[in-house]
Amino acid sequence: MSGIVGYIGKRQAYPLLLAGLQKLEYRGYDSAGIALQGADGINIIKTKGKVADLQKEVGANLPVGNAGCGHLRWATHGPPSKANAHPHSACSDDFVIVHNGIIENYLPLRGWLAGEGHRFASETDTEVLAHLIEHYYRGDLLQSVQEALQKITGSFAFIAACHKEKDRLICARRDTPLMIGLGEAENFISSDLAALLHHTRKIHILENEETALITSSAVKIYNSECTVMQKRAQEITWDVTSAEKGGYKHFMLKEIMEQPQALRETMRGRLSDGGQKINLAELNFKAQEIENISKIFIIACGTAYHAGLVGKYLMEKILRLPVEVDVASEFRYRDPLLCAKTLVIVISQSGETADTLAALRLARERGQQVLAITNVVGSSVAREADKVLFTWAGPEVAVASTKAYLTQLLALYMLTLYLAAKRQALPPARLKEIGSALFKLPAQVENILSREKEVAAIAGYLKRWESTFFIGRNLDFAVALEGALKLKEISYIHAEAYAAGELKHGTLALIVEGIPVVALATQKAVLEKSLSNIKEIKARGGYVLCFVQEGMEALQNEVDSIFYLPTTADIFLPMLAVIPLQLLAYYTAVARGCPVDNPRNLTKSITVE
Ligand code: G6P
Repeated sequence: MSGIVGYIGKRQAYPLLLAGLQKLEYRGYDSAGIALQGADGINIIKTKGKVADLQKEVGANLPVGNAGCGHLRWATHGPPSKANAHPHSACSDDFVIVHNGIIENYLPLRGWLAGEGHRFASETDTEVLAHLIEHYYRGDLLQSVQEALQKITGSFAFIAACHKEKDRLICARRDTPLMIGLGEAENFISSDLAALLHHTRKIHILENEETALITSSAVKIYNSECTVMQKRAQEITWDVTSAEKGGYKHFMLKEIMEQPQALRETMRGRLSDGGQKINLAELNFKAQEIENISKIFIIACGTAYHAGLVGKYLMEKILRLPVEVDVASEFRYRDPLLCAKTLVIVISQSGETADTLAALRLARERGQQVLAITNVVGSSVAREADKVLFTWAGPEVAVASTKAYLTQLLALYMLTLYLAAKRQALPPARLKEIGSALFKLPAQVENILSREKEVAAIAGYLKRWESTFFIGRNLDFAVALEGALKLKEISYIHAEAYAAGELKHGTLALIVEGIPVVALATQKAVLEKSLSNIKEIKARGGYVLCFVQEGMEALQNEVDSIFYLPTTADIFLPMLAVIPLQLLAYYTAVARGCPVDNPRNLTKSITVE
């Protein structure tokens, strides 16, 4: 999730583009850059780091020009560096582009363009698009962009400029937001409203597959058949602060709502044909290495550790390999038993958590191969691991992790599926079934998110209590731990998660009249057992807030409130069940007046041991 801005008009573009980038800073901070149409050519200024670093680089000599584009990078292809920073030019500096998204087929395109004589200066997927536009250019930028669009797969929102056509900017989008703000004899482009509302409230929100030609006086929008469309701009009434949060009150809610898109991005290019095909060639596993794995170790902290717990159930069930999960700070000091055939997986959203990094180093010192699942390209974990499976969740701003957790789960599911296919752990038909169920998850998550009011009503009960319990068996237990953590960290309610069968070994003593107990009973295989535990709680006066799959209506009369999750195979339920628990924590915290995005005593990334 990078941020892009564009301007064309009578004013100096540089200060306007810079101000736009400052408004989008939460979208990326790996590098910043601006390109301006100057008198003698396009002037590109870029640097590794944030907008402030770009300002330092520019100094007092502000570049001039009335049209240009800017970019803030959240690295995906190629680590953060000046060379990988946008804007990217083609062989000639006459063409520049800023891009947000992922060009899936950039490698074959790069190979083909190199064969045609194009020379590349960066490792990015974006640069390929700049060369492609240059390749097709025959005097009409719009046409060459439209031709290039026929060749690329993946997601994108981009702005292209050409020095030979200084009077226009061309932009296009697929699966990544892009909007155009209409001014008086000037027009603005941005990834989101935050950078536009200071200038105008008249906005065109581009739809998928649309391309736009923007001059200072007009905006023409074309559909995928290159036909001009008659579209009216919308009048946006949001205030600027809520625009930064996509119209939501908090980043946490915005990030919860972004999860279907984050899942689709993380699947992109990996799971295809409706989930029938899985491809993780990016991990460069040799067949023998996969064959040799006899044990898996998963190491992480916090929410990432909870994702690892789901991974354990999943991998043991599907791969039939023993899996140990450990919090990084424990792993380091317990002289763990590792052997040559152990695959060590570390999970870290930030890729900078000190304990996780130290555990990774320890494992590598002991000769282990380490595979990292992380959200941050160029992070220490990504650089030091032998193999990396990136989650493409985009930057996560709220301290309480939501979309990062969900994409970590997806990465674990895809990895399991991939290893299972290579180890022939399941018949191909079963693997395809799993793949297609995974493919359906983003839409199922959307369905749950559309029912947020139901969860807000449950929060109405929870908010009055200072203590609560979360219970579940099997995969539900792993999700219960994450649900309890979410509630604790942002609502400050004491929340304890228990394996449902353990309750009677002590904790049942704490069940008093009315106390809320969040009961996850999504696993058909252990439904009877879960029901017995729910009855134990009810018999002692507990108030049971239950989460089940559709079709489990029999539980309705046994509990105080019930939330139905879409039906899928038991193993996928963690990816669905966690969604209402995130919402529950959120609405409870809001109802208690807590500072949701910045809970007391906590930070996003813990770089001390
Ligand atoms: C902090 C954050 C958590 C996160 C944990 C691990 O405690 O507040 O949300 O799960 O660190 O962070 P990582 O970046 O390694 O996933």
